[in-house]
Amino acid sequence: MSKRALVTGITGQDGAYLSQLLLSKGYEVYGAVRRTSSINTARLADLGIDKDIKTVEFDLLEMSNILRVVEQTKPDEIYNLAAQSFVATSFEQPIYTGSVDGLGVTRVLEAIRTLGKGIRFYQASTSEMFGKVQATPQSETTPFYPRSPYGAAKLYAHWMTVNYREAYDIHASSGILFNHESPLRGTEFVTRKITLALARIQCGEAREVRLGNLAAKRDWGFAGDYVEGMWRMVQQPKADDYILATGETHSVEEFVCLAAAALGMEITFEGDGLQRVGRDGKTGRPIVVVDPAFFRPTEVDLLLGNPHKATTALGWQRKVSFQQLVEDMARKDFDRVRDGCLRY
Ligand code: NAP
Ligand code: GDD
Repeated sequence: MSKRALVTGITGQDGAYLSQLLLSKGYEVYGAVRRTSSINTARLADLGIDKDIKTVEFDLLEMSNILRVVEQTKPDEIYNLAAQSFVATSFEQPIYTGSVDGLGVTRVLEAIRTLGKGIRFYQASTSEMFGKVQATPQSETTPFYPRSPYGAAKLYAHWMTVNYREAYDIHASSGILFNHESPLRGTEFVTRKITLALARIQCGEAREVRLGNLAAKRDWGFAGDYVEGMWRMVQQPKADDYILATGETHSVEEFVCLAAAALGMEITFEGDGLQRVGRDGKTGRPIVVVDPAFFRPTEVDLLLGNPHKATTALGWQRKVSFQQLVEDMARKDFDRVRDGCLRY
């Protein structure tokens, strides 16, 4: 008999790739979708799987709803990907972010504790929990030091996942995932913001892109590779916590240059601080401008993960290189802008 998975956050980037993977493995996939005024399944449609998923109305803020959904769908596995996932927004909406990203996870864990301790649980934890990093590279034993309300809420959720595993013997795993991107990424995140803006500039629809901290460094991988790691964690005989990362780090500025090159543009940077500017190598026109509006009250300067445990225990490794990822994102956005078919 096929396994049944309940995927929260199914309308987001990871929800789409994970559902695709689970369907390919013969799972029956229930997609937990919160009520919004517009239908929001464009990513699932892009992967051609929107008709293959059974959707259920679900909100991490509503305990009674979570209980009913878990009772009715009777999943073998729950993948909790739902979150207010944008770090910048968490500074403006810290209480909301805490309710969804922190307490929301406890609500799901309570539902499992109440209704079925046999349900396996995956929690979408994050490298943001390392924040002001205490060691480099970061591994599963590196101490946490979150630098945003998002990071703090996710850290609470991470420890609740560990606690429910130890206290109630629930098969609950926490995937500490470093940044992962794709052409399905939300446009507010810096990678997609860059690829979309450069595509618009190349198509004559925009003149410049305004960014914040160009020096920030991230360990960026491809989301499609990372959902495979989530699934592998849940299949282990014993639940545990694992880092998924590439073991490489690159700056925002490097990402800009590589994305520009994929579109046949050359950008050269000059100046320091707020005066730093990225110019078109041919015309000298400013294309990248620093705007303090995109600085964060507290920043995570550098993330670099050590995926050794996942590589050895799960047999997981990323397949898509950084360069390939950037090129795929840049070219996909160029096609979308050129063809006038931008849906998210
Ligand atoms: P995403 O694209 O922003 O998707 C977030 C999903 O959560 C959306 O489906 C959203 O629904 C849903 N959601 C938000 N609030 C909700 C609520 N109150 N109740 C139910 N659903 C709600 O995020 P992602 O990049 O796919 O990331 C997936 C998960 O991994 C998140 O938990 C994120 O924090 C975590 N994570 C991501 C990364 C990364 O680099 N991508 C790294 C580490 C951890 P709507 O469509 O209705 O907004
Ligand atoms: N969004 C954004 N916009 N970020 C910018 C900009 C800009 O204009 N300019 C510079 N940055 C810098 C941010 O300050 C940050 O240091 C870095 O680019 C990456 O920002 P985001 O792409 O917004 O991602 P994030 O690292 O803050 O968070 C993402 O990764 C986490 C895992 O480490 C999200 O996906 C989180 O949900 C995830 O947990």
